Amino acid sequence: MPPSDLSTSATAASAAQPVLTQDQLKTLVGQAALQYVLPGEIVGVGSGSTVNKFIEALGTIKHQIKGAVSSSVASTERLRALGIEVFDSNDVPRLAVYVDGADEIDGHGNMIKGGGAALTREKIVAAQSDKFVCIVDASKLVTTLGAFPLPVEVIPMATRRLMTQFAAKGGTATVRKQNGQPLVTDNGQHILDVTGLCIADPQAFETEVSQWPGVVTVGVFAFQRAQVCLLGTVSGVRTLTY
Ligand code: 5RP
Repeated sequence: MPPSDLSTSATAASAAQPVLTQDQLKTLVGQAALQYVLPGEIVGVGSGSTVNKFIEALGTIKHQIKGAVSSSVASTERLRALGIEVFDSNDVPRLAVYVDGADEIDGHGNMIKGGGAALTREKIVAAQSDKFVCIVDASKLVTTLGAFPLPVEVIPMATRRLMTQFAAKGGTATVRKQNGQPLVTDNGQHILDVTGLCIADPQAFETEVSQWPGVVTVGVFAFQRAQVCLLGTVSGVRTLTY
């Protein structure tokens, strides 16, 4: 059930228009996020295929912004390729806006993130931002978090124990692989993907798992939740505010 402070608005598409593909929906929300970018500001930029659409759109107004703080090596490379200056997060005390995608978002702006393995830097940049604008297609909107395998960045020597700890919570954790080897994140660590969880209380879950020794970052974003969600739907971009 949506919370009472949830307000929505939609930009309706004509009924005669063809159904948009998921890629087109990503482009729509990526472009829609430009309305939250303030002239002369440094923008927080997330990671993933939806954010890549936002980066493309940002390129069209690059002369109006000062630059970006990026949440991954991949996004940094894209931003620089477009001529957008990328600042070290330590050199920027505060960001007005952070734009990023999500793997799931619920009716309160809580999210699961980390499908692209960039969750740690994403949480860092989100934490230094006043407003999180989440850009997703409608398939990402859920009632309860947990159907998407939960990404957790971990210190490799803790992997076995953490798998046992997740099993005690009803989850099954597997080490994410790339080319047959454990994927190594931008921070030199590994990712566990945990299935079988039902995250009814995202803040309590994030608090608990963040304290397990060896967890670098859990992909539940409840404390760095979204204030705005731009949702790509068959009838256009819906704006959800929390
Ligand atoms: C990367 C992320 C992404 O924001 C998330 O996986 C969504 O990606 P996409 O826009 O490609 O669906 O958290 O770590």
